Amino acid sequence: MPRRIRHHVNPLKLGFVQGLAPTLPLGEGRPLEVELGCADAAFLFARAAEDPRPLYVGVEIRAELVRRVNERAARDGAPPVRVVLGNVNVDLPRLFPPASVNRFYLNFPDPWFKRRHHKRRILNAELAAALAETLAPDGEVFFQTDVFDLALDAMDVLEREPRLANVLCPWAFERASPFRAQSRRELQSLARGRRVWRLRYRRGA
Ligand SMILES: C[S@@+](CC[C@H](N)C(=O)[O-])C[C@H]1O[C@@H](n2cnc3c(N)ncnc32)[C@H](O)[C@@H]1O
Repeated sequence: MPRRIRHHVNPLKLGFVQGLAPTLPLGEGRPLEVELGCADAAFLFARAAEDPRPLYVGVEIRAELVRRVNERAARDGAPPVRVVLGNVNVDLPRLFPPASVNRFYLNFPDPWFKRRHHKRRILNAELAAALAETLAPDGEVFFQTDVFDLALDAMDVLEREPRLANVLCPWAFERASPFRAQSRRELQSLARGRRVWRLRYRRGA
């Protein structure tokens, strides 16, 4: 019988705060693109089909999903996709050296609607600082959600990080996704006719 996958994991629970991730062997001299909270990694597989040159790494807190995605990658003839078990809010510096990542994707992060749960939202000032530290010169952060309140929250955090600049102009949303690849949540959201809010920030050279 297939193992059950939890729908939501509280990233502030003790086991997750202590850190999950081993150091990731990177290298290979290829660009590195990372999706934070990748779930089934549909977006990364689609990106790999679109552009097979980079290495695509997903970071996901639910172990069963990590196992399934890596099994799929092995089955599909080893596309340049792998997923590591990790808590994005704790493990990033352990996973990626400074200035090593060319693009981070935050696709449809959990919204944690209740005010008392806002502190569980993945993108906060600490994560923005860790992203800026880990991005290569000219590297990018791409964020998308269909929850307007969450988009504003993310924009506020990213605008305040001094090493990141909005690709269009300060406090601007992207008109459309610059990528052909779409995440599972993105497809569901668009099929329901929902508006998607997108942000792109670049690390200075
Ligand atoms: C709403 S889903 C979006 C999945 C995918 N990005 C998409 O757009 O289809 C959010 C994912 O982030 C994962 N997640 C939540 N908090 C996390 C954390 N602190 N570290 C790593 N993954 C996390 C959840 O387990 C879930 O798979």
